[in-house]
Amino acid sequence: MALPSSFLSELKMRCDITDIVSSYVNLKRRGRNMVGLCPFHSEKTPSFNIYPENGSFFCFGCGVGGDVITFIMKIENLDYIEAVKFLAMRAGLSMPEDSFDDGVSKLKGRILEANREAARFFHAQLMSEAGKTAQEYLVGRALSRQTVVRFGLGYAPANRFALSDYLRKKGFKDEEIVAANLAFKRSSGKGIVDRFSDRVMFPIIDLRGNVIAFGGRILADQKPKYLNTSDTLVFKKSSNLFSLNNAKNTGLRTLILCEGYMDVIALNAAGFQNAVATLGTALTAEQALLMKRYADEVIICYDADEAGQKATAKAIDILRNAGLLIRVLSIPDGKDPDEFIRKNGERGQAAFKNLLESSGDDVEYRLTKLRLNHDIKRADSKANYMKEALKIIASLSSFVEQDIYCSKLAEELGIRKDAVLEDLSRLKATKRRDFDRKEYKKVTNDLVGRDEVLNPQKKDNMRGAKAEEMLISYIFHNPDMLKKASELISATDFVTDFNARFYSYITEKISDGLPPDLNVSQDFTPDEVSRFYSIINSYNSQTATLDAMREYIDTIHIEKSKLTKADIANMSAEEIMQNLKKKPKK
Ligand code: GTP
Ligand code: MN
Repeated sequence: MALPSSFLSELKMRCDITDIVSSYVNLKRRGRNMVGLCPFHSEKTPSFNIYPENGSFFCFGCGVGGDVITFIMKIENLDYIEAVKFLAMRAGLSMPEDSFDDGVSKLKGRILEANREAARFFHAQLMSEAGKTAQEYLVGRALSRQTVVRFGLGYAPANRFALSDYLRKKGFKDEEIVAANLAFKRSSGKGIVDRFSDRVMFPIIDLRGNVIAFGGRILADQKPKYLNTSDTLVFKKSSNLFSLNNAKNTGLRTLILCEGYMDVIALNAAGFQNAVATLGTALTAEQALLMKRYADEVIICYDADEAGQKATAKAIDILRNAGLLIRVLSIPDGKDPDEFIRKNGERGQAAFKNLLESSGDDVEYRLTKLRLNHDIKRADSKANYMKEALKIIASLSSFVEQDIYCSKLAEELGIRKDAVLEDLSRLKATKRRDFDRKEYKKVTNDLVGRDEVLNPQKKDNMRGAKAEEMLISYIFHNPDMLKKASELISATDFVTDFNARFYSYITEKISDGLPPDLNVSQDFTPDEVSRFYSIINSYNSQTATLDAMREYIDTIHIEKSKLTKADIANMSAEEIMQNLKKKPKK
C-alpha cells in the first residue's frame, strides 16, 4: 500500500483520536488519558483507554489496541484503504494521486455498485407490469406506496436470468455479480443464474447508505419463505440490523427490536421509526454493541409464539451484557407486531403505543414467566422458584431495584424479607467469584492466543518476549534514552523475531529524528500495528527508570543465551563447529 508517510502523518494530525472515538464511545477524562466502555466487547466498567499524546487506544479488557486508522477499520468494518479514505474525507484531505486501490477494496466497491443497480432494477420491476402480482401482494399486506418507496422495496422477476442480464449490460462481470451473491454459477459450469426469483425484495442498507444485501420473500405459501443474501465481502449477517439506517435518525436512543422485515416496515408505517430487526438469525453480541451506539434502551418485540419467547430470553442476556436497558413488549394472541397493527386497523398505531407504554422491564418479564412455571403451594417448588427468582434479581445492577424485588418476593412467598436478602447476598458473592475467575481466564486466554499468532516464539519464551515488549514501550516513550540502550543491546540480540522487527523499526526512526509511530505499510499489517500500540500502552514501562531499562535489557540477554544453550544441546557436533566458525562468541 503505497501511501506516503507524510500523508499519513498529516491525516493522523487532523484526525484527533479523541474526537474520532468520541463519536462512537462516551469518553471521560482520566488523568492525561480518556476512558470509556469498550465498543469491541461487552463490559460494564470502562477499560477502553485513549492516549491522546501518541494518538492510540488500548482496551485492558479485550486487548484490542491501535491508532485512529485501525480504530476506524474495526468499528466501521472497513479495510485499511477504506478507513484511510473515510478519515481523509472527514478531515477534508484529498487522497494522494498515486494511492492505488488493492484488489479487494476494488471488488467491494463493485459489489456495492452491483447491489445498488440491483435495487433499482428490482424496484422498477415492482412498479412495472411484471410486478403486478407482487404489488397486489404488498397491497394485501397493507403497505402504502409511500412505504414501498421509503424502503425501496422491489420485485425479483420469475425469469432467473433477468437481473444478471441487466447487470451485464450495465458493465458488471459475472464474477462480480456472483461475488455480490446476486447470482450463482450454474452447475453445468456455463453462465450464471439469479439467486432471487419471483420474490418481494427488501434491500438491506448500512449506516452509510450502501445497499449491502437483500432479503426476499416468496409470494406464495412456499419454502423457504425468506431468502437472504449470504455473507459477502460487504455483508455480514451477524453484524447488521435491518433498518438501523432509519432508526438511528430518530434521536430517541430507544430501539424496538423485532424478528422480521415486515414487522419493522409495519411499525415504520405506523410511525415507529425506531424499529429494527435481525436478519433471520438469532441476535448476536455484535448486533447488541451496534445498538448500544445509538440507544440506551431496547424494547424487545418478538413474536408471541414459543419460538419468539425463547428468543426473547436469549436476547435479554445478550442485550444486558452489552449494558443496555431492556423492556419486553408482549403482543397478545400469538401475533407478531405486523399482524397486531394490521388487525387493529385504524387504531393500530394507538393500540401499539399502549403496548409500548405497558411494557415492563426484563426483570418483571422474567419473573412473570418464572412464576407461571412454578406451583408455589408446593414447598419444593416454592424453594426452587425463590432460588431462580433470586438469580434474576441478583443480575440487577441497582441495589434499590434489588431491594424492591426482594420485598415483592418475600410478600408473594410469605417469607421474612431479611431471609430473602440474606440468600441474595450469598448468591451474589458466589456469582462474583465465578465471574471474576471466568473473566480472568477468558481475557488471558484471548491475549495469549492473539499474541501467539503474531509472535509464535513468544510462548516458548514468555520472559524474554515480555522484557522486549517493555523495552520497546520504554524507548517509544523515552526516545532520548535510545542512545544509552543502543550501547547495551540491538535488535539482533532479541529473543523473538517479531519484537525485533518493531525494535529495529523504532530505533531507526528515532535515529533519523522522526517520531516512532507505526503505520500500516508494506512492512506492517493492520494486526501488527494494533499489536504495536497494545505493546506501547500496556506496560507501566513508559514511566520506568533507567535502572528498569537496564533490567529489561539484561533479561533479554539472559533469555537469549539460554536459548542459544538449548540450541546447542540439540545440535550435532558438526553443526556446533560450523556455528562457532560463523560467529565467534563474545
Ligand atoms: P411474514 O410471514 O412475511 O410476516 O414474515 P414474518 O416476519 O412474520 O416471518 P417470521 O416470523 O416467520 O420470520 C421472521 C424473520 O426470520 C424473517 O423476517 C426473516 O428474516 C427470517 N426468516 C423467516 N423465514 C425464513 C426462511 O425460510 N429462511 C431464512 N433464511 N430466514 C427466514
Ligand atoms: Mn409476520
